[in-house]
Amino acid sequence: MSSEDYIKIFDTTLRDGEQTPGVSLTPEEKLEIARQLDKLGVDTIEAGFPIASKGEMEAIKLIVKEGLNAEICGLARVNKSDIDAALSCGVGCIHVFIATSDIHLNYKLKLTREQALQKAIEGVEYAKSHGVQVEFSAEDATRSDLDYLKQVFKAVEDAGADRIDIPDTVGIITPARIYQLVGEIKKTVKLPISLHCHDDFGMAVANTLAGIEAGAVRAHVTVNGLGERAGNASLEEVVMALHSLYKKKTRINTRLIYETSKLVSELTGIMVQPNKAIVGDNAFGHESGIHTHGVLSMPLTYEPIEPELVGRKRWIQAGKHAGAHGILAELREMGWQPNEDQLKEIVEKVKELGDKGKTITDTDLSAIARSVMRKTTEEEKIITLADLAVMTGVKVVPTASVKLIVDGKEYVAAETGVGPVDSAVKAIQKVTDSLANIRLKEYRLEAITGGSDALAEVIIKVEDRNGNVASARATGEDIVITSVEAMINGINKILIKRKQAQSHAK
Ligand code: KIV
Ligand code: ZN
Repeated sequence: MSSEDYIKIFDTTLRDGEQTPGVSLTPEEKLEIARQLDKLGVDTIEAGFPIASKGEMEAIKLIVKEGLNAEICGLARVNKSDIDAALSCGVGCIHVFIATSDIHLNYKLKLTREQALQKAIEGVEYAKSHGVQVEFSAEDATRSDLDYLKQVFKAVEDAGADRIDIPDTVGIITPARIYQLVGEIKKTVKLPISLHCHDDFGMAVANTLAGIEAGAVRAHVTVNGLGERAGNASLEEVVMALHSLYKKKTRINTRLIYETSKLVSELTGIMVQPNKAIVGDNAFGHESGIHTHGVLSMPLTYEPIEPELVGRKRWIQAGKHAGAHGILAELREMGWQPNEDQLKEIVEKVKELGDKGKTITDTDLSAIARSVMRKTTEEEKIITLADLAVMTGVKVVPTASVKLIVDGKEYVAAETGVGPVDSAVKAIQKVTDSLANIRLKEYRLEAITGGSDALAEVIIKVEDRNGNVASARATGEDIVITSVEAMINGINKILIKRKQAQSHAK
């Protein structure tokens, strides 16, 4: 593909994405993400802000040493020491920036417009004299005086910059205004234009796309939309919208989008919201009867793209909105083949539970199917809790011991933890990790009612080594026992799934 034929993806997950509050990656973690981004096909990896710390420089050097296909870029202010720090990492591209809005010039930099212009020119000339690619960003461009912004961009073009970037630093632009702004800048500067949009009003993706429609050729994005405050334009949304709605190409292998999102979420510790476009848990899930019926007859009825295109699978959830078609599809996936009458009865029971406000998990559906289809209920539990003892106090290290029955055999384990729940969960994990390789992935505690005798609801997600994930919940007055019950429900769910898959394979 000639470079004019496609929109370039400048990924800043490892720089702006790492500026997400609470995120801090080790050099090894940054390297792992960089390898994945390269596999995904991004054109540029902004690996970090070299001057920020020794660890940051170490990470960038590690990434450079890897010899990836993507261009590796480092961020620098337009001063010698920042640029030298980036150069010493061996990057092929330096992303230099200085703010151009009066708010930043007056209150942050304490510079006149003329002084900032001079610094921009000197920074670009200095970086360029070292033979690297130079991308110049006018920080807070969208709140800058247009004539001054044009003057700065023109000056850095003359100083040798290879490309310019329009950052919407506080996410205040609108699609119509960025379309117009890109058009204005294009009248003054011949260089390729990048866009760097933040999501403070939830418009980073729309603004990026509008700017591209106006002629920008490079999108600064982050995986899962991570970034300062509300984040940056998300890679997955920009890329999929470009491919599917704008019919514009990128070099991204879209089938690797989901695994990239999962890796970034795991290493940064930032969970993806379930209703997030493209990579959220629910993005390809269907519950309502009308939708599941439609999707099962023709997926395009309620899916804009095939889930496989982004490395995902569609799923259908039983619930009070579900219809017989959806429930039947889900039952079949779990290995059940109900006849018409049995299906009718199962659907009725699912709806009854839904009306009582219950979310129907796979285990619930399996249990309903089992009871309707006259199977034994004992099968439902492969692991049961025989005993639980917890000790905690002001001067006592919280300790829990559990006795579990697994396939008729007794296992006992004890563990300490930061609190009674932590120690109980760890004790269970000690047994199940060695027996079934199942680990706790997520834990959430919610109070359903108020007061000190509040009913607690514990929602957990467990995962086995093969990537089978099950979520489960339990409700009760004692948070330790309820947590243990939720954990055991989740483990049973995975074990039952495995058992059904085995019997299905026979
Ligand atoms: O948001 C911003 O303005 C930035 C610059 C460093 C480009 O991240
Ligand atoms: Zn930014």
